[in-house]
Amino acid sequence: MRAVNSSEAPPATHPLDKAHRLCADDMEAVNRCIREQLSTDVMMIPAIGNYIVDAGGKRLRPLLCLLSARLFGYAGVGHIPLAVVVEFLHTASLLHDDVVDESDVRRGAPSANGVWGNQASVLVGDFLFSRAFEMMVEQGRMDILRLLAGVSNTLAEGEVLQLVRTFHLEMTEAEYLEVIERKTAVLFSAAAEIGARLADQDATTIQRMAEYGMCLGVAFQLMDDVLDYAAEAKAVGKPVGHDLEEGKITLPLVYAMARDAELAALVERIAERGGYAADEREQVRRAVQAAGGADHCLQTAAAYAARARRALPKHGEPETRLLLEELAEFSARRPY
Ligand code: IPE
Ligand code: IPE
Ligand code: MG
Ligand code: MG
Repeated sequence: MRAVNSSEAPPATHPLDKAHRLCADDMEAVNRCIREQLSTDVMMIPAIGNYIVDAGGKRLRPLLCLLSARLFGYAGVGHIPLAVVVEFLHTASLLHDDVVDESDVRRGAPSANGVWGNQASVLVGDFLFSRAFEMMVEQGRMDILRLLAGVSNTLAEGEVLQLVRTFHLEMTEAEYLEVIERKTAVLFSAAAEIGARLADQDATTIQRMAEYGMCLGVAFQLMDDVLDYAAEAKAVGKPVGHDLEEGKITLPLVYAMARDAELAALVERIAERGGYAADEREQVRRAVQAAGGADHCLQTAAAYAARARRALPKHGEPETRLLLEELAEFSARRPY
C-alpha cells in the first residue's frame, strides 16, 4: 500500500506523490476535516471511520477535487469540505462493497466488516453517506448538491446493475462499461467537475472537466479489473482473483472467453457451482492472460486515459494541468 502522507519522501516523480505534495496544505485540511466530521457521541462511528481512514488509501478522488479547484485558481475554502464529501461517498461505498463482496481485506488491513461485522459496516456506511449530504447542504451550492445527489444515486444503480448481472456470461463490453461508469467513474467525474464549478468556470469547461474525470474513472476501474487477474494481493492491498468468484464478469474475462472456448466452458462450470474448485482460480487467471484479456483491458484503459487528457481544457495553471494529465496516465498504468 502507498502511504497517504508522503511529504517526507525524496523529490517526488510519481504523479500521485507529486499531487499529494502539491496539495499538501489542502490535504492536511482535508484530513483534519475528515476527523472532525467523523466525530459523534456514538463511539462506534469514529472507531470504524478512523479505522478505515487510517488504513490509508490513495485519496485520489479528493485530490482530483483539490487539483481542479487549483487548476482554475479558486481562492475560497469550499474545495476542502467538498473533497471530504467525495472521499466520504467513496468510503461509504467501500464499507458497503466489502459486505456485498464478502471481502475481508481492504487497504492492506482486515476490512471493517471483518473486524466489526456486516451490520456495523452497513450502518456506519449509511452514516458516512448522510454526513456527506449534511456537508453538501452546508456549502449552499444547489448545483453541486444536485450533482452529488445524482452521483450517489448512480453509484447505487451501478452496484445493483452489477448484482443483477452476476454470472451474466453473455456480458458484452458495452454492458460491462455501463456498469463501471456508474459504479466508479461518475464519482471521479464529479470530483473533477466540482473544482471547475467552485471556480465559476463556463459550461464548456465544466463539461470538459466532467468528461476528464469520467474517462479517468473508467480507466481506473479497468485497471482494477486487470489487477484482479494479474497482480499479487499484497501489492494491491485487497484480495485478487476474487471477481469471478463473486460472479463479476469483467472485461479481461469477457474478452478472453470470446476467444477461448475451453475457458468459456470452464467459467460456465464455475458459474453453475458458484465458485472455484481446486486450482481453477489459477487456471482461469492463466487462460485470461494467454488469450490476451489482460492486455486488451490495459489497452482499453490507456485509450480512456488518452481521452481524459484530451478532454482537459486548454487554459488553467500549467503545473496543475500537467499533473492532471499524469494522473490520467497513472490510472491506466497503476500497479496497485
Ligand atoms: C477502490 O478504489 C474501489 C474502486 C473503484 C476500484 P481505490 O483504489 O481508489 O481505493 P483506495 O481509496 O485507494 O483504497
Ligand atoms: C468498487 O467495486 C467499489 C465501488 C465502486 C463501490 P469493486 O468491488 O470492484 O472494488 P474492490 O475491488 O472491492 O475495491
Ligand atoms: Mg464490488
Ligand atoms: Mg469489492
